[in-house]
Amino acid sequence: MQHQTELRLAAEALDRIDRRVLPEAETSMAVDGRRYTCRTALADEIGKLFRGHPLPVAFGCEVAEPGDYLTLDIAGVPVMLIRDDEGTVRGLLNTCRHRGARLLDGAGQLGKALVCPYHNWTYDRCGVLTAQPGAEHFPDVVVGETGLVRFPTEERDGFVWLLLDPAGTLDLDEALGDFGAELAAFGLADYRHRGSHVWTKQMNWKLGVDTFLEYYHVPILHRASIGKTLFGTVFLYEACGRHARLVAPRRSIMDQRDDDPETWRVVPHATIVYRLFPNAVFISQGPHVELARFFPDPERPDTTMCRFSFASPSEDRSNRDWEEMMRLALGVLDNEDFAVMEGVQANLAAGIQREIVFGRNEIGLHNFHQERDAALAG
Ligand code: FES
Ligand SMILES: [Fe+2]
Repeated sequence: MQHQTELRLAAEALDRIDRRVLPEAETSMAVDGRRYTCRTALADEIGKLFRGHPLPVAFGCEVAEPGDYLTLDIAGVPVMLIRDDEGTVRGLLNTCRHRGARLLDGAGQLGKALVCPYHNWTYDRCGVLTAQPGAEHFPDVVVGETGLVRFPTEERDGFVWLLLDPAGTLDLDEALGDFGAELAAFGLADYRHRGSHVWTKQMNWKLGVDTFLEYYHVPILHRASIGKTLFGTVFLYEACGRHARLVAPRRSIMDQRDDDPETWRVVPHATIVYRLFPNAVFISQGPHVELARFFPDPERPDTTMCRFSFASPSEDRSNRDWEEMMRLALGVLDNEDFAVMEGVQANLAAGIQREIVFGRNEIGLHNFHQERDAALAG
């Protein structure tokens, strides 16, 4: 985070802690629960949000070396990220040009070539066909020219962004706005991937994002876990274009109160959540960072694939037990947040209580859903 932004946020955090004043919306907001359960709404979201906006699909360090790959099913579209020989991350359709077989699963290292398991058509790390058994049977297929479908993909400042429209143009400057410089300042290009976890959850993709957007629930739902280290419901909120930033100070932020204000820090003393439109959340925890991505099943508003990844500086000498740290962090999400959200999904699907409400203190939810509605209307 840039120095000036950090000073401003530190001062605001200390002031809010003193005065116990929260950022608030002007009024509460009633919401029709069908936005989480309706198939037509989901189809509209996939068409306009998921195919119309650059998606932060991975940390670059998840595919750190040439030949490293990662597969993602993004709203029903099978995608592979592969780092090529020049070090560029390619976003390719995970579908063989011959008869459409799936080429890769999970994540790993491909070696020099990508070989289709069905009839051994072979592609290089850029997705170009390099070999084909029985080539004489395919007079219209040109080895060296035919290739896998490519998505516009760009790696910038440690994030990989992808546009789920092969014919579209990826304009990251426009998509990121002022957050571009702020995300760059984290220096994630020098981070190392520490681990990832994938869940399929019975909740709408927006419920996954919603869990990160208010601190009203933290002292209650998380009273036995992360609620102990955060400052109750205190948080800072700022929208930035279609995205937003929430800062939840930890108790340790008070330790610097008597220091020169020019030296105040926020990053080591807060959980900082960036909601990246439409479907991702980047979280700075101080010593490490996390990226959550929520991908809907295109046929089911109640089914979402969540990929959660952890990274920390390459030079991290803390000798942390990453397995244990991830187990704890993922356990809070799984057993506390997502468990409640799966219940919300089932209750809204019952269709008896149509309406739910976002309080004035849940401004992050107002803003996210208003941005979602505006993008669908546009
Ligand atoms: S489907 Fe891939 S080689 Fe036949
Ligand atoms: Fe939570």
